[in-house]
Amino acid sequence: MYKTDLSVTIKSLKMKNPVMPASGAYDYFENNANVFPMDILGAIMLKSIHRRARPGNKPPRIAEVTGGMLNAVGIPSAGIEAYIRDNSLARYRELNVPVIVSVSGDQPRDYVETCRMLAGNPSVDAIELNLSCPNVGTGLQLATDEVLLGRTVEATRLVTDFPLIVKLSPNVTDICKPAVIAQDCGADAVTIANTFMGMKIDIKTRKPFLGNTTGGLSGPAIKPITLRMVYQAYQKISIPIIGCGGIMCAADAIEYILAGATAVQVGSGNFVNPMLMKEVIEGMDAYLAENHFEKLEDIRGAAH
Ligand SMILES: Cc1cc2nc3c(=O)[nH]c(=O)nc-3n(C[C@H](O)[C@H](O)[C@H](O)COP(=O)(O)O)c2cc1C
Repeated sequence: MYKTDLSVTIKSLKMKNPVMPASGAYDYFENNANVFPMDILGAIMLKSIHRRARPGNKPPRIAEVTGGMLNAVGIPSAGIEAYIRDNSLARYRELNVPVIVSVSGDQPRDYVETCRMLAGNPSVDAIELNLSCPNVGTGLQLATDEVLLGRTVEATRLVTDFPLIVKLSPNVTDICKPAVIAQDCGADAVTIANTFMGMKIDIKTRKPFLGNTTGGLSGPAIKPITLRMVYQAYQKISIPIIGCGGIMCAADAIEYILAGATAVQVGSGNFVNPMLMKEVIEGMDAYLAENHFEKLEDIRGAAH
């Protein structure tokens, strides 16, 4: 189907192309199911599953802002035990693409327990540790605390054989530090990155707009910043980087690959254009062919 080789491998995770949805920003079975051909994706990424059931944050949870959106959804979740008990992961297999489960928790122990419960699960191909949600609990993002980050990655590594992807927070001064820690503690890849902490104030009520006061900024506004982080991290780590932030067209995704990303995730852009991920896959293929490259690998990190 493609003119070029877009395939990507992260340990045992084999993807026919590097494009997948970003966690929490895509719905597989309702809104997009009849519109989008899911089986063309490189992989699917689930909404973060929390260790314990939680209702999420009070509304409003979403706000549109110039250049993107703020969300403070707060990971409403049935909790991992309910997922296992009800075998809820099995239906994602029907989509015929590798399944990456995003795991979240309040403390390091939560991630270890969840990974242990998922060990050997036939519905799972890889795990992404969401250590960077700005909207849960005290707002502490494990990925911004070097000790907690290292401890969490090291401990989860011991209990899972699945490819382990660590999703980092962009709310740091130097992304290379957490990227190196994740690598040294056993991550197979890092996702750069989650949302940037932001807020909106309603000038009619003169109060914060979001129920959670603050939220995570995503969308095109963040792309130049996250792209810079991918570029910098690529110079310091040797494990694959998954670029995530503000992809709105194939050219954005190609920029991430040129910066050094192995794969990309598309989040907010899906809300604007439900066919975006298909356009990104086809656009990457066309770009490679037009520029006489045989495979995606030929351009990875070429901006360096
Ligand atoms: C509505 C919404 C819900 C999200 N939920 C999660 C989540 O459950 N877990 C997670 O790791 N990231 C979550 N994110 C962050 C996205 O996965 C992604 O990192 C971020 O939106 C940046 O990518 P984008 O600019 O393409 O949207 C969410 C983002 C949005 C907009």
